[in-house]
Amino acid sequence: MQRRSSRVLRLVRPRRARRWVAAASTPVLSVASGCRGPASTLDPAGRGAELIAELFWWLLAGAAIVWLVVVALAVLFARARPSPQGRRAARALIIGGGAVFPTVVLGGMLVYGLALMPDLSARAPPGTLRIAVSGEQWWWRVRYLPAGEDAVTLANEIHLPVGEPVELLLESPDVIHAFWIPSLGGKLDMVPGRVNRLVLRPTRTGVFHGVCAEYCGTSHALMRFVVVVEEKDAFLAWLRRQAEPAPAVAEPLAARGAERFLANGCGACHTVRGTPADGVVGPDLTHVGSRSSLGAGILPNDPAAFRRWIGHTEAVKPGVLMPSFGMLPPEELEALSAYLEALR
Ligand code: CUA
Repeated sequence: MQRRSSRVLRLVRPRRARRWVAAASTPVLSVASGCRGPASTLDPAGRGAELIAELFWWLLAGAAIVWLVVVALAVLFARARPSPQGRRAARALIIGGGAVFPTVVLGGMLVYGLALMPDLSARAPPGTLRIAVSGEQWWWRVRYLPAGEDAVTLANEIHLPVGEPVELLLESPDVIHAFWIPSLGGKLDMVPGRVNRLVLRPTRTGVFHGVCAEYCGTSHALMRFVVVVEEKDAFLAWLRRQAEPAPAVAEPLAARGAERFLANGCGACHTVRGTPADGVVGPDLTHVGSRSSLGAGILPNDPAAFRRWIGHTEAVKPGVLMPSFGMLPPEELEALSAYLEALR
C-alpha cells in the first residue's frame, strides 16, 4: 500500500504534472482556437449559423453521453462474473441499452433537429434586399437587385447590412457549386437551370470568408470570396459607390493602361462601366481596385498581384477560362496593373 501511494506521488510530481497538463491541453487549445476566425461554424455571426452551432453542441453532448454510458457498461460487465442473475441482467441490458436507449436518444435528437428546420429555411419577408450570386468557373458573379433601382454587378465580394435579412438567389450557368459562408449560415447548392434561395441574417459586423463547398472542377479550392458585414449607412454608401461608373484615370501610367486594356481586347470579356468595355464572360472590373482580394480570394489586391494574375493566369488558377497574357511586354503589364488598381 505504501509502495503504491509513493508510486502515485512520484507520478504527480509538480514538474511531471505540468508536462502532462501541457501535453493534454495543446490539442484542446489548438482545437478551441480553430473554432474562432472568419470562416468558423462555431463562431456564428448570423442567425442561421447560430442555429446550426446550437444543433452541433446538442448533438455533441448527446453523443458524449451515449459514449460514456456504453463504455461504462462495457467496463462494468467485462469485470462481472457469469451467474444466472447476470444472464437476466444481460438480456435486460441488450433490450434497454441496445434498443430503447438509442431509440429515445436518437429520436429526441431527430425531433430537435427537425424543429430547427422551419427557422433555417424561412422565407424572406417582403421588401428584403435580394442579391443574385452565380457560381462561375472559378469565381462568383454578384448582382445586387435593389427594389426599383438598376442592378449593380460586381464579383467575389459581398457586403451585407448588419441586423437585416438578405435573400440570396443562387444559380450557376454550367457546373454545380455550393455557396457557403460558415460564419453566417448553412451551405446551399448552385445548380444550373434553377434558382435556390438562401436567407441570411447577419447579427454582428465583421469580415468573413465564403467558399465553394462542392467539388466543381480543377480550381474548386481556389474560388473564395470576402463577406463584409457593416452598419446600414456604410453598406448603402458602399452600394452607391459600386453603382457608379468607373472613375476617370488621369495618372499617365494608368491612362496608358486604360488604352492598352481596350487595345488588347480585354473588354470582350470584362465590363468597365463608363468605357467601351462591356464583355460579360469574366468578372465586372468597374471597381476592381476597391476589392479586398484578386482572383476570387486567392491574391492580395495590389499591382504586383495584378501583374502576376494577368501574366500567369493558368499557373495561379489551373483550368481558368481567362488566357494568360504573359506575351505582353513588362511595361504594358505594369500599365494595365496601374489602370486596374486605379478602378476604385
Ligand atoms: Cu465551385 Cu467548388
